[in-house]
Amino acid sequence: MLNEKLHFYIEGLISGRSPLFTEMESYAKEHNVPIMELAGIETMLQLLRIHQSIKILEVGTAIGYSALRMASGLPNAKIVTIERDNERITVAKDFIQRSGIGEQITLIEGDALEVEEQVSGHAPFDAVFIDAAKGQYKKFFEMYENYLSHDGMIITDNVLFKGLVAEREIESKRTRNLVKKIDEFNHWLMNHPDYDSVIVPVGDGVAISKRRGERK
Ligand SMILES: C[S@@+](CC[C@H](N)C(=O)[O-])C[C@H]1O[C@@H](n2cnc3c(N)ncnc32)[C@H](O)[C@@H]1O
Repeated sequence: MLNEKLHFYIEGLISGRSPLFTEMESYAKEHNVPIMELAGIETMLQLLRIHQSIKILEVGTAIGYSALRMASGLPNAKIVTIERDNERITVAKDFIQRSGIGEQITLIEGDALEVEEQVSGHAPFDAVFIDAAKGQYKKFFEMYENYLSHDGMIITDNVLFKGLVAEREIESKRTRNLVKKIDEFNHWLMNHPDYDSVIVPVGDGVAISKRRGERK
């Protein structure tokens, strides 16, 4: 989102991660697993600290990178995270087990739109982090806002989708349809009567939505 020079400047200022996290970053790169961008995750961690989120729901575990970064960055936090891809679940479990902080994380296996009952047993959540199938953001939001605490926060990643949301012409029909869905989600979110939302052009674009405090 930022120009490339600034992007690398900021990344260069972010301090080094533990060997396990750098191993996870390399694994993700090698196996084409999309994990949250560095500046994006640092922004999210800082927000969660300021908000003092203790119970966090994550939709989209992948290999457990962001879940473990949250657990490590917020030592008092408990993270419930959902993943449907069996191969990624296996890898995530291995990393979580090796991390030494696995007791902070509960991994729920299955499609996020089908495991609501299991998730509800862990509610309420101070924060919900949506980072799964981009075409279904609104569904995830509408399902899991029901388990958000009174003054909770919802963070949604990839809302600028590599800058494509601002492009007029996109050749691939599949990408065009996905961009349309993200754009519709962004408009819906920014006009949602129950939340104050802002889109921050960091990482792949992060939306921060804070509940206004009064239930509908
Ligand atoms: C971008 S990756 C998550 C990255 C992770 N949050 C991180 O930053 O380390 C998205 C993950 O969501 C999973 N996913 C997509 N749709 C899902 C759904 N409906 N239910 C559960 N998991 C889903 C995908 O399998 C993928 O592993």
